[in-house]
Amino acid sequence: MDSIVVKGGGALSGQIPIAGAKNACLTLMPACLLSDQPLTLTNAPRLSDIRTMTELLRSLGAEVTSLQEGKVLAMSCHGAINTRAEYDIVRKMRASNLVLGPLLAREGHAQVSLPGGCAIGARPMDIHTDSLALMGAQIDLRDGYLHAKADGGKLKGAVIDFPFASVGATENIMMAATLAKDTTVINNAAREPEIVDLAECLRAMGAQIDGDGTSRIEIQGVDSLHGATHRVVTDRIELGTYMLAPAICGGEVELLGGRINLLAAFCEKLDAAGIDVTETESGLKVARRNGNIHAVNVTTEPFPGFPTDLQAQMMALLCTAEGTSVLEEKIFENRFMHAPELIRMGADIDVHGGMATVTGVKKLKGAPVMATDLRASVSLILAAMAAEGETKVSRVYHLDRGYEHVVAKLRGVGANIERIKDQ
Ligand code: UD1
Repeated sequence: MDSIVVKGGGALSGQIPIAGAKNACLTLMPACLLSDQPLTLTNAPRLSDIRTMTELLRSLGAEVTSLQEGKVLAMSCHGAINTRAEYDIVRKMRASNLVLGPLLAREGHAQVSLPGGCAIGARPMDIHTDSLALMGAQIDLRDGYLHAKADGGKLKGAVIDFPFASVGATENIMMAATLAKDTTVINNAAREPEIVDLAECLRAMGAQIDGDGTSRIEIQGVDSLHGATHRVVTDRIELGTYMLAPAICGGEVELLGGRINLLAAFCEKLDAAGIDVTETESGLKVARRNGNIHAVNVTTEPFPGFPTDLQAQMMALLCTAEGTSVLEEKIFENRFMHAPELIRMGADIDVHGGMATVTGVKKLKGAPVMATDLRASVSLILAAMAAEGETKVSRVYHLDRGYEHVVAKLRGVGANIERIKDQ
């Protein structure tokens, strides 16, 4: 297993290119199951989660070819389809459940393993399954698998009111509805940029979708979808993560490909914390306004609110702010696993239920710490870059799931960071 060693220190300067969005790409890839013609994705990120989705799609009968060192994914699903998504692959990555909607839409039946819990919470799938049931699917849970079958072999449109604006359920139902009979309406749909990106790709494939980016999405089913080429939207979470690097360490960094509208709520909080964000021709420039970081309160919410996927990294910033900040996590029940690790580095954090109170300290101090999930890992790296002395972050395989070339990107702006093989 590898570790990352960071020596805290100086201010950063330079540029960081931002990749295509992991969470968009993992949704776009299963869309290839909806057509027997090729779907090509450009601007794909080079990540282990993408390799896991590739493995899953291949196991279902899709051809997936990685071109230009993984930046282009050419997918085709013209032959026979295997409709069973096996536990051995699904358990590695929750986004695997996004094959359920497309398989059911194309073949009229599917068996998809339940993914199980993960480090940040239970993450049930009831909104996905209740919605598919409204579209005429019978769904049973047997042997840890969801066994789904569409009445008469074809899903039918329905009006679905989501109890919560679930991102995954919006994506699964949108894909399922593209080939269903008649019209499907999703009320209280998620509005994340990744949903809009999926809708754009599906429209390029011939789907009829309106209202993406709002809470009411309408999908008129069509008989078949065709091939398309689609560019994956910028990764707003990678963007936000690297915006925090100069905020925490000082200096000025330009994030290439960044746009404020991907992260408006996050940018407002940065402004309140004393961090300047300006749009440039090629992205966003980030620097501290004056020497100090100010405390701010943060509540995670569905888009356009503050993203849960940036909560851990924001906490790393607030550890050295002047004053006390309160972070409230409203999306996942167990997403403060980074707090005990930050405390090992000298942070003053009190976690109580879904809230964390962070009282700023002057300096964090390097320590051996452990990554517990993807976003927690990167928050420890950010904290380490501003800490006194050396920090060793172990279990960094989590990082490979969501950040391509993290060491090279941070070294490129002057961070003292390296990846080492553990003995
Ligand atoms: C969530 C995030 C998304 C992030 C992704 C990866 C939100 C709203 N969603 O998406 O931004 O990129 O994690 O970290 O911020 N739920 C149910 N039943 C369901 C589905 C979800 O109860 O069938 C609950 C979940 O337990 C959770 C909440 O709804 O508390 C959000 O879930 P959802 O948006 O579906 O999660 P992801 O799609 O994984």
